[in-house]
Amino acid sequence: MDWEQRFQENSTPWERSRLHPVISDWASAGVFQPGSRVLIPGCGRSPELVHLTSLGLKVTGFDLSETAIGWQRERLEERGLDAELIAGDAFTWAPSHPIDLIYEQTFLCAIPPALRETYEACAYRWLKPGGGFLALFMQKTERGGPPYACSLEAMHTLFPANRWDWPENESFTPYPHPNLNDKPELAGVLRRR
Ligand SMILES: C[S@@+](CC[C@H](N)C(=O)[O-])C[C@H]1O[C@@H](n2cnc3c(N)ncnc32)[C@H](O)[C@@H]1O
Repeated sequence: MDWEQRFQENSTPWERSRLHPVISDWASAGVFQPGSRVLIPGCGRSPELVHLTSLGLKVTGFDLSETAIGWQRERLEERGLDAELIAGDAFTWAPSHPIDLIYEQTFLCAIPPALRETYEACAYRWLKPGGGFLALFMQKTERGGPPYACSLEAMHTLFPANRWDWPENESFTPYPHPNLNDKPELAGVLRRR
């Protein structure tokens, strides 16, 4: 997938036309505390980056696409907000401070499945103990991708219980993705042990 080209051609069906509804639900649940450090890997042009910055979180967004990062920079400037933006490969990045939260929106399902274990290792390293991996696990039955399916069975293998505390009673909330045939994303917070 040539992500830069997709942004340049505006061929971005994964984008939602408004904020992901999980944002207000997690905000009501107290997940987003002002001053917390939140990382958005593969932020693309998602408006959640500006929104979380406006809530007072210290946001870092990175993406392979210069175009997407430039778009985020312009949106921040329009609002007079500041966040750390990095154009580059997520898997070569190291935070200057431990991270409280990772907001995972259509990044895990976008990367080649062969990179998933690398991503899990990075997420574990980036987060402080007790930090939250805000998961939106994409559910689909078709083979191939992106988006690639993130079944809970596969996610349990990827995020093992000796490294991650899973939501009690597997309490994930489904959010249909309106621009991806209503494929459900399962939202839940995993805690780094
Ligand atoms: C499906 S898009 C999702 C974008 C955004 N999260 C959203 O929900 O609109 C996947 C994003 O991951 C970025 N990406 C893919 N591989 C990456 C990598 N290795 N490092 C950083 N960004 C990457 C792409 O450029 C793209 O913006």
